[in-house]
Amino acid sequence: MKDSFFVVLVTLLGLSLGAPGLHHPWHLRTSPEWNQGKEPYIVGGVAVNDGDFPSMVSLKYEGFHTCGGSIINQEWILTAAHCTALNGADESAYSVSVGSIRLDQGTVHQVLEIHEHQNFSQYTTLDDISLWKVTPPIQLGGVVGIANLPAKNEETPAGKQATVVGWGYIYGDSGGPLYVDNKNVGIVSWGQPCAIKGYPTVYTRVAEYIDWIQETIR
Ligand SMILES: *[C@@H]1O[C@H](CO)[C@@H](O)[C@H](O)[C@H]1NC(C)=O
Repeated sequence: MKDSFFVVLVTLLGLSLGAPGLHHPWHLRTSPEWNQGKEPYIVGGVAVNDGDFPSMVSLKYEGFHTCGGSIINQEWILTAAHCTALNGADESAYSVSVGSIRLDQGTVHQVLEIHEHQNFSQYTTLDDISLWKVTPPIQLGGVVGIANLPAKNEETPAGKQATVVGWGYIYGDSGGPLYVDNKNVGIVSWGQPCAIKGYPTVYTRVAEYIDWIQETIR
C-alpha cells in the first residue's frame, strides 16, 4: 500500500459534546515519507483507496494539511470550527483538496467563505462546526461525492460501529467525518492525543445542526 489515508473502526459508546480540552489543529508539514505511509497513522487503522470515502477532503493552511472535512454539496465543505482557531479564518490562507487519499494530489479548490458557528468557543468547544464555501464548484463523480448527512435530530444508537477517517497526523484528523451506517453523523472535535486507551474522542453531533447547515449554505 502506498497510500497515506487510513481509517479506524471504533465502537460508538455515545456521542457527547461540551467538556473543555480543545486541541488546536496543528498544521503539520507533510514529508514524502509520510505520504508513502508504510504504517497506519490512525491508531489501529487500515489503509483505504481513492474513492472509498468520496466526500473526504483535506483542508490546507498555506498548503499544508491541517484538518479533514466532508463535501456536502458542490460548493460547501463541512468541518470543525476549531480548525481555524489557531491560524485565523482568513480564507485566502486556506485551500481544499478533493479526490485523493494522497495529500500531495487531488484537485485543489480556493476558499471563498468560512462560516464558523456563531456560538463556537475555544474554551467550551461547544458548537465546533464550520462550513467553507469553495471555488470553483467541485466536480462530482468517480472518486468524488457528497456525504450523506443524518436527518435533523436523528439519534445514533449507542453500541453501533462507527468509522472515523483521516490521515492520522495526531491533530490532523480534526474536522474529519465519523460515519455510522454510511451517514456522516459526527465531526472530529477533540480528544486526548494518540488515542489513549480509556479516554473518549469527542465528535460534534451533526444531526443537531441540520437547520444551521441549511441556513448557512442557502
Ligand atoms: C447561540 O446562543 C444563543 C444563546 O444561547 C442562542 O440564543 C442562539 O440561538 C445560538 N445561536 C445558534 C446559531 O445556535
